[in-house]
Amino acid sequence: MTTPTQPGKPQAGAAAPDSAMDSKADGQAGPPVPARANAPTLDWGAGSYESVAAQLLPAARAVVDSAGLRPGERVLDLGCGTGNAALLAADRCGKVTGVDPAPRLLQLARAQAAREGKKVTFRHGEAASLPIGDASVDVILSVFALIFVPDPDAAAAEMARVLAPGGRIVLSAWIPAGAMFEMTSTASDTVRQAMGAPPGSAPFAWEQRDALLNLLAPHGFSVQVKHHAFAFTASSAHEFLDDQTQNHPMAVAGLSVLERLGQAQALRTRLLKILENGNEDAGKFRVTSRYAVATARRQR
Ligand SMILES: C[S@@+](CC[C@H](N)C(=O)[O-])C[C@H]1O[C@@H](n2cnc3c(N)ncnc32)[C@H](O)[C@@H]1O
Repeated sequence: MTTPTQPGKPQAGAAAPDSAMDSKADGQAGPPVPARANAPTLDWGAGSYESVAAQLLPAARAVVDSAGLRPGERVLDLGCGTGNAALLAADRCGKVTGVDPAPRLLQLARAQAAREGKKVTFRHGEAASLPIGDASVDVILSVFALIFVPDPDAAAAEMARVLAPGGRIVLSAWIPAGAMFEMTSTASDTVRQAMGAPPGSAPFAWEQRDALLNLLAPHGFSVQVKHHAFAFTASSAHEFLDDQTQNHPMAVAGLSVLERLGQAQALRTRLLKILENGNEDAGKFRVTSRYAVATARRQR
């Protein structure tokens, strides 16, 4: 499923179209939920994340727009996936690098860059150990990717290492509320219980200014947060759920566990009910999820 996904637990994922609306600096709730310590490793190359990425392109555009990129700036798209933000940034800056742990998604990103005639370097790596030199980047973009890192402190230290003085981080994180959040939480909890795993610790609140300040102020950053909205749409709730379960890596991973235990259909029925209850469009399917775009500026 294309669901706002919850990092950390195997789950069914989802995502939504966007209609940016500003706001203040607080809030929780949204599709994907932040990563948990000791989270199982997810293969983001499984399924067809590319179809989810296509839906999430408006959110990548919101992040890139928020970054106010200037010609000549060096940009890192952290957790680039198929390269949505990196490819948009390449229209505005000189040197753009995308880093992601999923080799198949990196291949797709390279192929898309070639098709678009854009010069972007895509490298294998992950947030806690970036294949990037010290102080060699002016802007780090991360679209619904940092929310999945198992160790936010390690990611923060690495971002501080690679950012040049005066650099900035612009990231997006789902606000944990609404039908998509309910769906992904239900899926995650069902899979976790089926696996006999204990509840994880609370995920890091990447969408909250206070949490980000605690994480990043020791590295010299100030933080601002604005809220946006994204609408997941389909011809029906049923079609949306089918699309997510077939394509989203979290859904593919979680449902493969439940299929073996004979519990997959029961979960599908519960998730469909959640989506139908949250549907905002009587004739088709539309569910709006809110997300935060946080900008952390380094003061030194
Ligand atoms: C929801 S996808 C977002 C991908 C892309 N930014 C986009 O907008 O479509 C999450 C991405 O985070 C990446 N990811 C997961 N764990 C990561 C980590 N520890 N460090 C960096 N990226 C990670 C995944 O491989 C995946 O590409």
